[in-house]
Amino acid sequence: MFDDLASAALAAREHAYAPFSKFRVGAALEDESGRVHSGCNVENASYGLTLCAERVAVFKAISEGVRRFRRIAIAADTETLTPPCGACRQILWEFCGDIEILLCNPRGKNETLRLKDLFPRAFDASFV
Ligand code: THU
Repeated sequence: MFDDLASAALAAREHAYAPFSKFRVGAALEDESGRVHSGCNVENASYGLTLCAERVAVFKAISEGVRRFRRIAIAADTETLTPPCGACRQILWEFCGDIEILLCNPRGKNETLRLKDLFPRAFDASFV
């Protein structure tokens, strides 16, 4: 059976606003109480203002006062499962630390990783 968090990321992907790239992404971030904060990518005609699904999910949760997270699922329609971009890795590290990451696609393919393996030797608040 597909993980509920993966299903939430796939559902969030349906809301993607991606008229420019047509590449739709969904994210579902589970907090310490089990509540799920979803996000999709939101593009803009000026391209550079685009926000990834992962950052939308993180910022939604942070803006509601949530600070502790367990897992994030990321969904895109690719056979090679889509990992978070570099900017999202930095943001995830800031707010979620070495979080568990579940990558998935609509055909049920999935893989679990840890952020530390995708983002070794991170720059963070410990340096400033
Ligand atoms: N995108 C995400 O939302 N998350 C990722 O991890 C990779 C890229 C979005 C940004 C843009 O809207 C589209 O995918 C193509 O890069």
